[in-house]
Amino acid sequence: MVPQWIIEKKRDGEALSREEIEFFINGFTDGSIPDYQMAAMAMAIYLKGMTFDEVAVLTETMMNSGDIVDTSAIERPKVDKHSTGGIGDKVSLILAPLVACCGGGVPMISGRGLGITGGTLDKFEAIPGYRTDLSVEEFIGVVNKCGCSIIGQTGRLAPADKKLYALRDVTGTVPSIPLITASIMSKKMAAGLDALVLDVKWGKGAFMKTRENAKALALSMVEVGTRMGKGMAALITDMNQPLGRTAGNTVEIIETVKALSGEGAEDLMIVTMALSAQMLTLTGLAPGENAAMLMLEEKIRSGEALEKFKEMVQLHGGDVSSLEDFRKLPTAKTIQPMLSPKNGYIAAVDAEKIGKAVLLLGAGRMKTTDTVDHAVGATDLLKIGEQVSKGDPLLTMHINSTNRLAEAEKLFMDAFIFSDAPVSPPPFINELILPEE
Ligand code: URA
Repeated sequence: MVPQWIIEKKRDGEALSREEIEFFINGFTDGSIPDYQMAAMAMAIYLKGMTFDEVAVLTETMMNSGDIVDTSAIERPKVDKHSTGGIGDKVSLILAPLVACCGGGVPMISGRGLGITGGTLDKFEAIPGYRTDLSVEEFIGVVNKCGCSIIGQTGRLAPADKKLYALRDVTGTVPSIPLITASIMSKKMAAGLDALVLDVKWGKGAFMKTRENAKALALSMVEVGTRMGKGMAALITDMNQPLGRTAGNTVEIIETVKALSGEGAEDLMIVTMALSAQMLTLTGLAPGENAAMLMLEEKIRSGEALEKFKEMVQLHGGDVSSLEDFRKLPTAKTIQPMLSPKNGYIAAVDAEKIGKAVLLLGAGRMKTTDTVDHAVGATDLLKIGEQVSKGDPLLTMHINSTNRLAEAEKLFMDAFIFSDAPVSPPPFINELILPEE
C-alpha cells in the first residue's frame, strides 16, 4: 500500500477500508509513516469526515496499538464513566463509590488536569498518601475488594493516540469528531469494560462550545462503543457555569465528602446521580432508571457510599482521617471572600473564566511539567439564579501566593453577570443519548 494514495482517497471524500486504516495507523505508530503524511491524513479526515464503520476501525486500531488491561479477574460487571472535562467536575469521585455500593465494578483510569480543566488524579493527590500509580494487579485487587479504583494511566495505553494527539495539537486538527471519538474511545476501550457512560459537556468551560457539537460527539462515541460490543449511553450536560460550588483540588475533595454525606450541590448531584443510574441500568444492576435512582439515594442516606469512598482511599494508601479532619488536607494560607459589587440575581458564571482564575492561583498546570498546588482554589461559588446583595460573597478564594492574584481576581469578578430581574437556572442535563434500536 502507498501512503499518499490513501491520503488522496480520503482527500477526495472516499471511505477507507479496514486494511488501509490499519496500514496507516500502524505505520505512523512504528515510525514508517512520517508525521507529515499523518498530518495530511488528519487534515483530510478533519475536512471530509469518516463513516461510523471507518471510525470504529480507527478506534480499534488505535486501541490495539498498545496494552489492553486484562480485567477478566474482576468479578463484578465492569462499567466506567468518561467526562469530556469541565470546571469543578468532581463527578468521578462521587460516582465510583456510589456505583460500587450497588454492585458495579468501576476500574477507572483517569487523567491529570491540563489547562483550565482539572484532573481527577490531581484531586485525589490532595489526600496525603493516596497512590494513583498502582500496578495493574493492585488495581484489579482494589476493584475486587471494594468495587472501585481510580488510577492514572498504566503501561502503554493506546500509544498511537498519544502520538497522533500531539500532531493534531499543532496542525489544527483537534476539533474533528471522528478523531476525537477514536482518541477517547481507544483509551477507554483498552481498559476492558462491559459498559461505558459518557458525560459530554458543552458550554464556556467545556471542550465542545456548542450543544450541537456535543451531541454529534456523543452520537459518534455511543455508536462506535456499541459496534465494539459495549453497553453505551451518553448525557449531554451544561458546562457554562462550574459544576458544584468548588473548583480546585483539596476543596473538591471536601465537596466530594459533603456530597457523599447528602449535602451535595443540586447541579452536581443531578448530574452524578443520572450518570450513575445509567451505569446501573446498562449493567443490569438495576431494572430501570427509577429503580437505580432509589438504590443510589439509599446508598447516600445510609452512609454506605461515604464509607465506600473511604475504603477506596485507604486501599490506595490515603490517610482516611484527613476526610474527617479536613485540616489534615493541604490548606491555603489565606482564605478571602470576593464580594458582590451590586444587588441582583446571578445571570451567568463563566466557567472558562473561573477555570482560568483557579489555574492562575496555582491549582492546575499551564504545561505538563508544572506542579499543582493542591491547597488553592475557589469555594462557595454562587450559581445562576441565586440572589445576591451588595457586599455578599460571590465566592471564597483560597490563596497561597500573590504572584498572579490581581489577574485571578479580575477573572473571578468578570465571570459573574448580574440581572435586576429573577433568572431561572438552566437545565443541568440537556439530553440522554442511547444507541439506535
Ligand atoms: N480528549 C481526548 O482524549 N482526545 C481528544 O481528541 C479530545 C479530548
